[in-house]
Amino acid sequence: MNSQSENPLDRVLVLEMVRVTEAAAIAASKLIGRGDEKAADAAAVEAMRAAFDTLYMDGTVVIGEGERDEAPMLYIGEKVGGAIGKGPRIDIALDPLEGTTITAKAGPNALAVLAAAEEGNLLNAPDTYMDKLAVGPGYPDGIIDLAKSPTENVKAVAAAKGVAPGDIIVCVLDRPRHAALISELRGLGCGVVLIGDGDVAGVIAVTDPDTTIDMYMGSGGAPEGVLAAAALRCVGGQFNGRLVFRNEDEKARARKWGIEDFDRIYLRDDLVKGDCIFAATGVTSGSLLDGVKYTRDGKLTTESVVMRASSGTIRWIKGEHRAR
Ligand code: FBP
Repeated sequence: MNSQSENPLDRVLVLEMVRVTEAAAIAASKLIGRGDEKAADAAAVEAMRAAFDTLYMDGTVVIGEGERDEAPMLYIGEKVGGAIGKGPRIDIALDPLEGTTITAKAGPNALAVLAAAEEGNLLNAPDTYMDKLAVGPGYPDGIIDLAKSPTENVKAVAAAKGVAPGDIIVCVLDRPRHAALISELRGLGCGVVLIGDGDVAGVIAVTDPDTTIDMYMGSGGAPEGVLAAAALRCVGGQFNGRLVFRNEDEKARARKWGIEDFDRIYLRDDLVKGDCIFAATGVTSGSLLDGVKYTRDGKLTTESVVMRASSGTIRWIKGEHRAR
């Protein structure tokens, strides 16, 4: 058996992963603009859960909708897939609806998203915040460092890019907790792209020259950090993340997943190891993907992306579906 055939992801149909994110996105799309975050999330969760049954794999949710007592479906530790006990053993990080508020308000960049890797290769991130710092591909390794200040990081990236710090464009979640960060960046003359929600798409934006975004900075959900790191592992780009704990309960949760060093800075490949697959379908249109669209003749269209780290292949998939 060669090393290629020992990779359990080889036994999963990579493109089939898109069926799972498509199903979640279509279900959530019916609630775009309806002002009901919970209903949109529940619809996406239920559809994603059912779609996993069509995949030949023995999957385990390692990042999901919360702990077993908090979430009826897609909770951490839940087994998913149509071949439990016999198929390839795969760990899954998922967010059936990344951007519940965006969906409720019909804003940009809501996604249905998942990442898959060989068992043990995704960090079991607790549901805390994470400080995030990301830059796209093409820079020397270690160009960004969360241990350094935003100013030092911007200057390092600007020098490597051959531009002034004020030419660097940084994406940041628009939150009061980021006031000091935003004013530091504006003090350097940087362009700051403020997003209302959806930092998976925000981080991935650094990999796409069309967005003109050079860097991502600021804190958001730790699970979303692992999902974004998986995408960067496929397309290139650097990521630093450090868990942020607001109380002892959050630290206790982290300990449960074996995390002892609360100040650790995780690099992209500490969060996601080995081969991985990242798949996403747009719910609402944004920088990464078009959202679900309903056509006049009763059909609906989706746009998805599926990427694989080992091959570096990125597939953009347009789907046309009969309205369900
Ligand atoms: P939800 O889909 O769970 O609402 O997450 C949206 C999001 O914007 C994430 O992209 C981000 O990581 C997180 O919320 C930020 O959290 P907060 O809204 O508490 O700042």
